[in-house]
Amino acid sequence: MSLLPDNDRVLLGPGPSLTAPRVMRAMASPTVSHLDPIMMALLDDVRGRLGRVFRAAEGSFAFAVSGTGTSGMETTVANLVKDGTRATVIVSGYFGDRLAQMCERYGATVTRLDVEWGRACDPAALRTLLKATPADVVAMVHAETSTGVVNPVKELAAIAREHGALTIVDAVTSLGGMPLDIGAWGIDAAYSCTQKCLGGPAGLAPVVFGPRALAQRVKCRSFYFDLTLLEDYWLRRKYHHTMSSTLVYALYEALSIVEEEGLDARWARHEQNHLALLASMAGIGLTVLPREGERLWTLNAIRVPEGIDEAAVRKHLLDTFNMEIGAGLGPLAGKIWRVGLMGASSSPRLILLLRGALESAFAVQGKALG
Ligand SMILES: Cc1ncc(COP(=O)(O)O)c(C=O)c1O
Repeated sequence: MSLLPDNDRVLLGPGPSLTAPRVMRAMASPTVSHLDPIMMALLDDVRGRLGRVFRAAEGSFAFAVSGTGTSGMETTVANLVKDGTRATVIVSGYFGDRLAQMCERYGATVTRLDVEWGRACDPAALRTLLKATPADVVAMVHAETSTGVVNPVKELAAIAREHGALTIVDAVTSLGGMPLDIGAWGIDAAYSCTQKCLGGPAGLAPVVFGPRALAQRVKCRSFYFDLTLLEDYWLRRKYHHTMSSTLVYALYEALSIVEEEGLDARWARHEQNHLALLASMAGIGLTVLPREGERLWTLNAIRVPEGIDEAAVRKHLLDTFNMEIGAGLGPLAGKIWRVGLMGASSSPRLILLLRGALESAFAVQGKALG
């Protein structure tokens, strides 16, 4: 018996999101080598598309690293942080903490700006901290997937820049789904993933380095994530590693879909579906953890009501409706469900399905809500 899935899971967790049929078909294109002229033309095209989706400034280098979002994180850190770098990291959830750990691993002296899980970072707190403790690098997560909260990255990046620091922004759960403008907001480096709002499979991490970051790169300790070696491959066609043509086809097609829809229209769709989900959940008495103005459109942290077995609900959705939603992490384990509406998974049809599936799961537990 084959272990391969033969029907589509409804992917409404924190990622991956549904992969568009066009992207699946693109991956069935014939394999070419990592140095094939066809691959080179694709890489040039993908660089241009990534620069546009990040809204990168002139003179930036946008490309994709082989690996998932974490490899994007590691690429930005490994090329901007060395022994003794003073790094201030905003930690408002699980992924901010990972970013702080990553900076430490690459030798930085890390100052954490800890924010209560479920709240956004107050820009005034960063200003006060940077006055007292100067930093070379300020790193932050735009869309904190563990809490469903959006950090005010535009304001935070401006403050970091005023204080002479480079900024690193995690855009793993925002790129393609929430407003983000790397160039206009003065962000120096950012990274994302392919499997969330861009609607591809996991396996590549879009990364962008702006002109200041390119100029201030450090000697990279990692061979695989070395920016200069990766430039040699992407720009000068020199072998570095055997990049997967299949994943590049997928990213090319996913970015084509993003551009056909238009970035502004895509953000608006994510916002509308987020609001529709809130309204639908309110109908059965469910609320979200973050307060208004701090909510992600891409990842909804829905509070588990009193008396409901949250793991049993997820199991019911999976077994009965072939539907995945995520559990809470860290201090939010057991307290929230994480419902992702990203890329092709951001759709009114799926919100209706989720509402019905949740009502069924609550009924099984003898709880009719609303
Ligand atoms: C905000 C954020 N950063 C980083 C990551 C790590 O990405 P990956 O699991 O693709 O390595 C994730 C994954 O969900 C994330 O949500």
